[in-house]
Amino acid sequence: MSNRVVNVGYQNRTPFLNAAASAQLRAEIDQQIDQQIEEWYATVPAAAHLEGKNVDSAYYKRNLIETAWRIRLLRVAESKALTEIAKRSPEAAQVWANYEQEEMLHDELFIDDLAKVGVSREEFLSVEPYLSTKLLTGYFSYLLDHEGPLGVVAYSYLVEYVNVKLEPRKLVALKDSVGESNIGGQISHSHTDINDDHPGEVWAALRFLIRGDDDIAALKKYLQEHQRLLAQYFEELYQDTLAGGEHAEQKEAVAV
Ligand SMILES: [Fe+2]
Repeated sequence: MSNRVVNVGYQNRTPFLNAAASAQLRAEIDQQIDQQIEEWYATVPAAAHLEGKNVDSAYYKRNLIETAWRIRLLRVAESKALTEIAKRSPEAAQVWANYEQEEMLHDELFIDDLAKVGVSREEFLSVEPYLSTKLLTGYFSYLLDHEGPLGVVAYSYLVEYVNVKLEPRKLVALKDSVGESNIGGQISHSHTDINDDHPGEVWAALRFLIRGDDDIAALKKYLQEHQRLLAQYFEELYQDTLAGGEHAEQKEAVAV
């Protein structure tokens, strides 16, 4: 009788992508994301709002609230992803566990910055996440049940790449508009991404999960789909704040 054990990650131990192929694919993926960033600025309403001189108070606060919620909700799905990754690749699971360890409590950094602009923890907890955030969380659950963990890890690569590339510029602008002493949480979050090489860590996990050309095609598609869901969030945020949604009455500059 043959051994019935499966899903322990001991097949395909040699990565499909050797070091050179991995570097080449990563450059190609980075180019795709650079193009997506251009589309982002061209199509998402108020995409560069936080990089500007006059930051709307409601937009700023609501974005921090949603960022903390997104981290809280996704860490549940991302923890489930660890199980699926471990079934496929022990190496990828080790990298992913380390990455999650570093990110796990980062919602608190955003909650700290909310307190600096007068939003208490209780107030934060009273705000329900946007539908787009719930749908993003639901998409992760769908992926883990029906397509596998690659799409979940792909999301982190997109976010980490974009953060390392764009967050420093945004933080320079926020130092002027909101004040350096009020954005300490966001600064330390950005430092972790850059100093712990989060894009590199997530890429290492992706490399172990990619087992053929179909996975490469899927990765490219996931990056586009995640961008669409994130764009829906920024659209929702814009409608709710800058465009005169229910928080429109708070439309003063961030008072600090
Ligand atoms: Fe990060």
